[in-house]
Amino acid sequence: MRKRGVLNVAMIGYGFMGRAHSNAFRQANSFFDTPYALRLKAICGRNTANVQKMAAEWGWEETVGEWEAIISRPDIDVVDICTPNYLHAPIAIAAAQAGKIILCEKPLANTVAEAERMADAARGLSTLVWFNYRRVPAVRFARELVQQHRLGQVYHYRGLYLQSWGRSPGDPGAWRFKADQAGSGVMGDLLSHSLDLAVWLNGPMRKLCSQIQVFEPGRKVDDAVTVLAEFANGSMGTFEATRFAMGNQNRNSFEINGSDGSIEFNLERMNHLHYNDLREDPSLHGRREILVTGPGHPYVDRFWPPGHVIGYEHTFIATLVDFLDALSRGERFRPDFADALGVQRLLDLVSKSSQQGGWIDVPASESLSDVR
Ligand SMILES: NC(=O)c1ccc[n+]([C@@H]2O[C@H](COP(=O)([O-])OP(=O)(O)OC[C@H]3O[C@@H](n4cnc5c(N)ncnc54)[C@H](O)[C@@H]3O)[C@@H](O)[C@H]2O)c1
Repeated sequence: MRKRGVLNVAMIGYGFMGRAHSNAFRQANSFFDTPYALRLKAICGRNTANVQKMAAEWGWEETVGEWEAIISRPDIDVVDICTPNYLHAPIAIAAAQAGKIILCEKPLANTVAEAERMADAARGLSTLVWFNYRRVPAVRFARELVQQHRLGQVYHYRGLYLQSWGRSPGDPGAWRFKADQAGSGVMGDLLSHSLDLAVWLNGPMRKLCSQIQVFEPGRKVDDAVTVLAEFANGSMGTFEATRFAMGNQNRNSFEINGSDGSIEFNLERMNHLHYNDLREDPSLHGRREILVTGPGHPYVDRFWPPGHVIGYEHTFIATLVDFLDALSRGERFRPDFADALGVQRLLDLVSKSSQQGGWIDVPASESLSDVR
């Protein structure tokens, strides 16, 4: 076991992501030998009873009512932002001004201007944005196959993020349906993940064309979006993100078709990757289903023996562990605020294209073209 420094964490927000992150903070050093001990120092939320219950359940030492009261405290090293989107910018900028390590949920912000201010404020600091699907072992393995040039010339990239709860959203007044709090509907919520994965797996985009739909009368945020794209490697991209794909609960899926092979992933079967190796004898061509639980697959040797599948929560643990390793080596973690600003710019172009109608160029500076 390595000698560890201690990092005191303050987490703002304690809903769905608050639970996913609390679990990651608690589990990281159980599965991995990270350079830091994480102390769950303070959790912040406005409802005292609820936040105290959450603190007791997950082992947070202290509860705080207002985020402003915790952000610059000298005994806090890491600020983790799990709030609705409109609060990401003010909290992150205040944390950056206090020189903290900042972890922030996606989408980075509600607008490009906000995201730019966040990236500027955090320049020189260590940041993480929770695009956690990069750390699904099967997705990481897919990227290894791409980087080994096993797919040859890529023709198609197909990204889907399909959910089906848009018609009966529970509380229709919840923050995800308020434009001033969420910024957008499925664009920030779902398409942001698909775009982050697409650029990470298939490189920068040159242009895009999009259409946005609101199906529910009176709704102020988008219910569905489709995007056509052209990547710098010449491949065609298609994307669909919706909360109206009835029957799909959380189908975050991509498919890449190349001259030498194809791969396909679906989060609802997250331990599997489909691979078709066209370099083999034609009699052997076909969709091979690889169970990505080892041996030789990313992350999984630190979880369970081969064949013993992992779940959604492990993606947050793996993300955090990679971040802590990068932090200890003084290296840049990806995706950080600058990467997530790139995704925000793409979302903005998607929005502009749907308003103007037609294709829109992706400026080189906005195409996330550096090696990530
Ligand atoms: N990475 C992923 O896969 C993923 C999945 C879901 C959500 N998210 C992102 O995580 C963020 C939170 O989403 P969620 O699903 O956890 O939402 P949620 O509604 O479950 O939780 C939001 C939390 O923020 C708290 N909050 C609201 N205003 C606050 C304030 N002023 N001060 C302190 N706390 C405040 C709420 O009390 C609640 O605990 C969003 O940005 C969302 O896009 C990411």
